[in-house]
Amino acid sequence: FKVHITQGDQLGKAVIVSWVTVEEPGSNTVLYWSAYSKKQKSEGKVTTYKFYNYTSGYIHHTTIRNLKFNTKYYYVVGIGHTERQFWFITPPEVGPDVPYTFGLIGDLGQSFDSNKTLTHYELNPQKGQAVLFVGDLSYADNYPNHDNVRWDTWGRFTERSVAYQPWIWTAGNHEIDFAPEIGETKPFKPYTHRYHVPYKASGSTAPFWYSIKRASAYIIVLSSYSAYGKYTPQYQWLEQELPKVNRSETPWLIVLMHSPWYNSYNYHYMEGETMRVMYEPWFVKYKVDVVFAGHVHAYERSERISNVAYNIVNGICIPVKDQSAPVYITIGDGGNLEGLATNMTEPQPAYSAYREASFGHATFDIKNRTHAYYGWHRNQDGYAVTADSMWFFNRYHHPVDDSTSAQ
Ligand SMILES: [Fe+2]
Repeated sequence: FKVHITQGDQLGKAVIVSWVTVEEPGSNTVLYWSAYSKKQKSEGKVTTYKFYNYTSGYIHHTTIRNLKFNTKYYYVVGIGHTERQFWFITPPEVGPDVPYTFGLIGDLGQSFDSNKTLTHYELNPQKGQAVLFVGDLSYADNYPNHDNVRWDTWGRFTERSVAYQPWIWTAGNHEIDFAPEIGETKPFKPYTHRYHVPYKASGSTAPFWYSIKRASAYIIVLSSYSAYGKYTPQYQWLEQELPKVNRSETPWLIVLMHSPWYNSYNYHYMEGETMRVMYEPWFVKYKVDVVFAGHVHAYERSERISNVAYNIVNGICIPVKDQSAPVYITIGDGGNLEGLATNMTEPQPAYSAYREASFGHATFDIKNRTHAYYGWHRNQDGYAVTADSMWFFNRYHHPVDDSTSAQ
């Protein structure tokens, strides 16, 4: 009986409530209310899946719509059986100067360190209002036959946060669960059954790439593990998506993906390179503010750099300072059982502003259309300590050099 929520539409007026029941399907109804509205009901659907010798519980997904912005709602699931009550707060109405604080967590897993990361996020005085999760959730695939009980236990572990605030999902390699040796040939089967996202609302045709608006941010989620070459669905969607971003409405353009493009660790080295070649010119053209990725179990923040001049024959292939380029942040340090990525390429590249192999999480605290305060929090520090921080200047409304090094 594990509950989680995520944004259910493009604007933040809907919430997808998901939960699992074990013995019998029970009701798909979510009962919800605020201090200003009477009790209402919303109906959803139930699904199950099998994975090798595992059969899932009854997985319910119910979308609550037409919510009021900036309002605390209580909700109840398990109607008529074991009722459980939770609450969430809807985001403020989308607008250019709306402050909002996002948490950033990646590669979480379910270890002692994972628990520490989540506790630090919960007790961070910066108070994240929604989590941008950059992929690799349960690490069930590291257990024999991808033991899907681990998906259940991960749901139970994270419920204490994700039942009360939305986590925005990105698919990582540990979501693929492709295991032909045990007859499991449909990629992303457990992930897509358990974690629904509002992809249709942004015109996407698959749950692995989509966008949402939340407060003053426009968030684009991409899939490192779906086709992204020219003519593919993801490519076509992103090509049409980027021109739609109205920076007068949502100044902050944030991209989430799993595999980082700029990574100077000796882990997963250059795995993001092919996608970078395809999409980096667009990120510069449309002045993406920041790209968050995971995958590498460590922390790294880049300067604003691009590497888009190379054209096969000119030999110009080196990252250069570029004030139209995003900052690239690797935040794959959630604390899963695979441990830290401690081995780095030497020397540290000039474009790498800060790198450290410690577990932790980050917060991105938008103040208004021009300024956002970003902080990385290590698990070995106190809850309020930022080990690395940066004032972001918005690339559209305040495109002043915001680099933190003198180089
Ligand atoms: Fe990964």
